[in-house]
Amino acid sequence: SAPLRTHAAGRGKFIGAALATGQLANEATYRTTAATEFSQVTPENALKWESTEPSQGQFTFSGGDAIVAFATQNNMQVHGHTLVWHNQTPGWVQSLGASAMRAAMQNHISQVVGHYANNPAVVSWDVVNEVFDDSGNLRTSFWYNTLGQSYIADAFRAARAADPDAKLCINDYNTEGINAKSTAIYNLVSSLRQQGVPVDCVGFQSHLAIQYGFPSDFQQNLQRFAALGVQVRITELDVRMVMPRDATKDATQATYYRNVVNACLAVTACAGVTIWGFTDKYSWVPDTFSGQGAALIYDENYQKKPSYTAVHDAL
Ligand code: XIL
Repeated sequence: SAPLRTHAAGRGKFIGAALATGQLANEATYRTTAATEFSQVTPENALKWESTEPSQGQFTFSGGDAIVAFATQNNMQVHGHTLVWHNQTPGWVQSLGASAMRAAMQNHISQVVGHYANNPAVVSWDVVNEVFDDSGNLRTSFWYNTLGQSYIADAFRAARAADPDAKLCINDYNTEGINAKSTAIYNLVSSLRQQGVPVDCVGFQSHLAIQYGFPSDFQQNLQRFAALGVQVRITELDVRMVMPRDATKDATQATYYRNVVNACLAVTACAGVTIWGFTDKYSWVPDTFSGQGAALIYDENYQKKPSYTAVHDAL
């Protein structure tokens, strides 16, 4: 039957995956599956600060360019991830004083977004990532501690100046349901837009786990953001389980994938769903959540799982 991207296109949405440069270069099955099934790609690590500007003023776009070239060949959109984050950012940035840090941030955004501004495949950016903690307070990252909350508006303005056409997003996790953190983002986006700060889009990472339950107000949450006038997108979907994997857990996982796709389909402003990888052979989950895994829609041998069928049938 038809690949995911064909069904997604029929519904006016993208279906995407995070991709890694090494696997793309070295593994034909990885490459072919990605190109066949998905209409959108987010570089998993290639556009993070440590990859693009490891030392000050020295920009390298080899990884990002390889992914963008693959996307272009296969008629896929690219979502740039990510410009300003507290992780995977070099030490030299973190140790700058306030005025030097602000200038470095603006230069980084200008160079990275500017590099892709005339490339029609690159349509959107995560400008800031994970700026809140789970209580809904601004995260006390080196960005916040050095610059105060003004860095967020400054980052969006710099991104708009570098590419007037790209959709500019704020992205975070544990924001799928209505809770203190998602409400904090909601209030920030509302207030930034009232001030004329160019926030176009809100990303919901959606790193879910079957043992924690599905956020039943996911669709309602997307809808309240849509009412602010922003695009919404599911940016990093995966659904992990406590290992070992079994048929019951696979079936539960499949319902989570189906629910996420259905929530996006039900909200006009939802542009699409990006899965954080596609094969369990390569996933950040086992490295990050001890004893958990099997979070994606293909197993480690590229066999389709019940979660694949759930996404396919929902689209
Ligand atoms: C993860 C990648 O998947 C890993 O390969 C890397 O080692 C660490 O970062 N939230 C994000 C993503 O916004 O960038 C993270 O990606 C997963 C959590």
